[in-house]
Amino acid sequence: MRIDVITIFPEYLEPLNVSLVGKARARGQLDVRIHNLRDWTHDRHNTVDDSPFGGGPGMVMKPEPWGEALDAVTAEAGEQLPVLVVPTPSGLPFTQELAVELSERPWLVFTPARYEGIDRRVIEEYGDRFDVREVSIGDYVLAGGEAPVLVIVEAVARLLPGVLGNAESHRDDSFAPGAMADLLEGPVYTKPPVWREREVPEVLLSGHHGKVARFRRDEAFRRTTANRPDLIERCDPAALDKLDRKLLAELGWEELPDGRFGRSASAVEE
Ligand SMILES: C[S@@+](CC[C@H](N)C(=O)[O-])C[C@H]1O[C@@H](n2cnc3c(N)ncnc32)[C@H](O)[C@@H]1O
Repeated sequence: MRIDVITIFPEYLEPLNVSLVGKARARGQLDVRIHNLRDWTHDRHNTVDDSPFGGGPGMVMKPEPWGEALDAVTAEAGEQLPVLVVPTPSGLPFTQELAVELSERPWLVFTPARYEGIDRRVIEEYGDRFDVREVSIGDYVLAGGEAPVLVIVEAVARLLPGVLGNAESHRDDSFAPGAMADLLEGPVYTKPPVWREREVPEVLLSGHHGKVARFRRDEAFRRTTANRPDLIERCDPAALDKLDRKLLAELGWEELPDGRFGRSASAVEE
């Protein structure tokens, strides 16, 4: 996969040289190219921002440097068009589902902004040519889009074939498409079996694959109902087996007329 990042702080992307992403780059699984937006400015001060039309506080990133940068970086786009990923708090939420989708594309171009964001016409201009995704990493506002780029690249890179040591490991992750789509992963344990008089749940030592799988799924439901009840409310009823339903009932959830699950009236009152 090829990844281009256009930024006024190339040094902010240094973490892409370490750990999983760094190793994927060293192995040639990821071709990451960082570009300095100021290379496409033509004035003495390398200006990339200006005051907003209509007034108001803050500055807006000028369209000209972004246009020149994007034209240059995407000049080689032939058959293979890039996905333009625009980090912005006003974008669609970044989810594991989107990470999976982006991991299947050969080329991502990121445009992390600063100030109040990029002049809207840039997004419109490239939206006519490329698949543009405006993506938010959460309901808070950061000073710039570089940290969101690090987040998105890491989430995408670990899904690329051969990047994780164990190809199976992301299938059991929280939010992983399939059985975990609307579930959080439960607690995990390693050796020693007893630490400060705290024991690892016995079933995990039993070697009984069926019981271990059931225990993990139950724990996933317990954690999800406690921390993210919204996920249970939207989860596909067809994905729930008999034991899932029994556990949900024990945890104070009931089946609604449309087959989905909601907190039972008595549980809500408590
Ligand atoms: C100070 S923010 C601009 C916020 C903008 N005025 C608003 O309220 O939507 C500057 C840049 O940081 C990045 N950014 C900040 N928060 C983000 C978030 N939650 N998700 C993705 N990008 C974010 C974006 O690139 C954004 O253009």
